[in-house]
Amino acid sequence: MAIRRIAQIGHPVLREISREVSVEQLRSDEMQRFIDDLIETMRDANGAGLAAPQIHEPVRICVIEVRNNPRYPERPNIPLTVLVNPRLTPIGDERFDNYEGCLSVPDLRGVAPRHAVLRVEALDRHGAALDFVARGLSAGVYQHEVDHLDGKLFVDRVVRPSTLSTWREFERHHQASATEHARAIVARYGS
Ligand code: NI
Repeated sequence: MAIRRIAQIGHPVLREISREVSVEQLRSDEMQRFIDDLIETMRDANGAGLAAPQIHEPVRICVIEVRNNPRYPERPNIPLTVLVNPRLTPIGDERFDNYEGCLSVPDLRGVAPRHAVLRVEALDRHGAALDFVARGLSAGVYQHEVDHLDGKLFVDRVVRPSTLSTWREFERHHQASATEHARAIVARYGS
């Protein structure tokens, strides 16, 4: 396994539409090693998720894991999940404001509106079908990661640029209200 370099905003790979992965490609040793690298790189950087184009490979694979994340202390835990060729379908039209950051957008946070409830369909790393419902803050993580596969960054989703903040200023001026807001989301959606 290897820790890869993470592409930063401005790198064209972050703006590509990533290509689908066939089950045959997915089962190759090379792709399995790549997925291990993606997980390793996410954990090394304390990410809540990481998408393949962020390590310069525009394929439709992303990994998600929230385990007492110091970057996002308010987020409920999500066990390690590998999504291949994911498809998200909003359920209902409720949305919520999600405070986001990204390993490809250094030192910036901002509020992006996200669907509150989603159906997630994908393959797992072995090619088995996944089909589940994600809600609340967890649904926000899935939308952020799948956006990467379509060449989108959270800054594209920020409706009010006045919510943008460095991490230092976030901690000083917005952490308290953001944590309260996040708790309300968790109370409403269970995650
Ligand atoms: Ni990101």
